[in-house]
Amino acid sequence: MKKVMSFILMCVFVLAFAFGCGNSVVEAKESGSDDYEKLNLKLSTSGTNLGVDAVTAQYFADAVKEASGGKIKIRVYPNCQLAGGSMAKSIELLIVGGNYELAVFSGSVLGNIDARFLTHSVPFIFSSYAEASAKMDSTGGEYYANLMKEKGLVYLAGVHNGLRQLTNNEKEIKMPEDLKGLKIRVPSGEVYMKTLREFGADPIAMNWSEVFTALQQGTIDGHENGYQTIDSAKIYEVQKYMTEWNWSYDGYWLMANSKDWAKFSEKTQKLLLEKAKEAQAYGRKYLEDAEKEIKKDFVENRGVTITELTPDELAAFKKAARPVQEYFIEKFGEEATSAWGLK
Ligand code: MLT
Repeated sequence: MKKVMSFILMCVFVLAFAFGCGNSVVEAKESGSDDYEKLNLKLSTSGTNLGVDAVTAQYFADAVKEASGGKIKIRVYPNCQLAGGSMAKSIELLIVGGNYELAVFSGSVLGNIDARFLTHSVPFIFSSYAEASAKMDSTGGEYYANLMKEKGLVYLAGVHNGLRQLTNNEKEIKMPEDLKGLKIRVPSGEVYMKTLREFGADPIAMNWSEVFTALQQGTIDGHENGYQTIDSAKIYEVQKYMTEWNWSYDGYWLMANSKDWAKFSEKTQKLLLEKAKEAQAYGRKYLEDAEKEIKKDFVENRGVTITELTPDELAAFKKAARPVQEYFIEKFGEEATSAWGLK
């Protein structure tokens, strides 16, 4: 009898212990997300709500919200709307702080605070996303992370804005001389202005938020951008011709204001970094997959004539770009240009 009683007691003990442990696992998980501080953050992007910058930002926001058990909320504001549509003002406001803690901005936005943020956009450095990713994930990314630190920013991730193509409403562009006299919108920055001028065009710097209307009203004849960015702003509605020339690469960088960043707990910083890396993988794949579909859609459904350059035609643009490359190698210096692989 004594033996039976002690066996029953042991079973009760084992079951109680197992039940207790089960509960404590659940509690530990719950207290994991309970530990996060409650935060309502704002994130600014420069493209439209359909651009890969906003898509990546929204993925990041959703992933952070889920992993923090709803404690950390990030609201995405596209079109530089928190800075009245101004790309230059957008980056200033991120650095000053007090307006938004986070942003996904292109090199053309970052270039407003330091021209070296356009090193990756010097003409004809990259001809594929694999090449651009390799530099972004090594020396190029490290160089920008340090430069951002100097400016009061924290580098969290980098995705593609795109290999930039040319659109216009006048004619097919195959050679530099075809660009003569055409008013081509570019983001601000000497890399854009100088190169397009060297190609024979009349470049005009303008905020991205104003481009659709300017093309529609004929204030400008054309512009240049990546396929996904062009599609996200419905530029195909107001442009008939497109030249695929991959003249320049641009990225989008997910960043935080460093004073705000320093106020986050270590646990929150770790989570934001982890989800930024996930958003980076998502955003890069999203753009690469989308480009093929978009090109097909432009030709089949949007009435856009896409001109693919012959090797000789491309060589003519590369030749025209050589003095510009040399100028920026000199201007940006050894550290910047070798980090991004310029020769
Ligand atoms: C531009 O052309 O202004 C950029 O590619 C768009 C952006 O910065 O979001």
